[in-house]
Amino acid sequence: MGVYNDRVLPRILNDAGGSKRLEPLRRRVCAGLAGDVVEIGFGSGLNVPFYPAAVASVAAVEPSDVSWKLADVRRRGTNVFVERSGLDGQSLPFADDRFDAALSTWTLCTIPDPAAALHELRRVLKSGGTLYFLEHGLAPDERVGRWQRRLDPVQKRIAGGCHLTRPVADLLRTAGFEIKELDVFYEQGTPKVAGADSLGSALSP
Ligand SMILES: C[S@@+](CC[C@H](N)C(=O)[O-])C[C@H]1O[C@@H](n2cnc3c(N)ncnc32)[C@H](O)[C@@H]1O
Repeated sequence: MGVYNDRVLPRILNDAGGSKRLEPLRRRVCAGLAGDVVEIGFGSGLNVPFYPAAVASVAAVEPSDVSWKLADVRRRGTNVFVERSGLDGQSLPFADDRFDAALSTWTLCTIPDPAAALHELRRVLKSGGTLYFLEHGLAPDERVGRWQRRLDPVQKRIAGGCHLTRPVADLLRTAGFEIKELDVFYEQGTPKVAGADSLGSALSP
């Protein structure tokens, strides 16, 4: 799985995540970003074109060298200062209260310990800072949830550790975030098991 996860999967994620149909979702989740931002699971920078002008800088946290390289073209196309600043969302190399906002898109599914990552985001966000999130997770319908549980072991193997069943809003609340906006919906064009999305914003009190 080494070559597949390290070399092939980042390209698959870049192609799939770069689909035109996802652009309105990326635009929505990025719309409120401002100031100094930390983005975990930066991937190949697919959110970069949607950073608003109010963003001063982005600290990108991404373990994959291939994804970071694929992001070159988008980093060159923006005026926002984007720096690869960390490799693991579970252990962020930043001082407390460093950022105005945070961004995570389709990443909490993959980080091995999402509670640790959210704890770290709370630590590095200023009091009153906002996490903007767009994540797939446990579906609101029990029937879909049953299929998600069945398929989770396969998904983890073929999609680099991605889980289908993470309860996004519960994880945020347990980490101490106050959810300000939350839209739960099935993504068009994606099977429901992998497309039960939660899009919104959450305050770090
Ligand atoms: C499904 S991709 C999403 C990429 C991007 N956020 C997007 O919207 O297209 C998940 C990303 O999380 C990254 N990732 C995996 N483990 C991570 C970790 N421990 N900390 C930060 N990012 C991680 C992967 O390398 C990958 O780029």
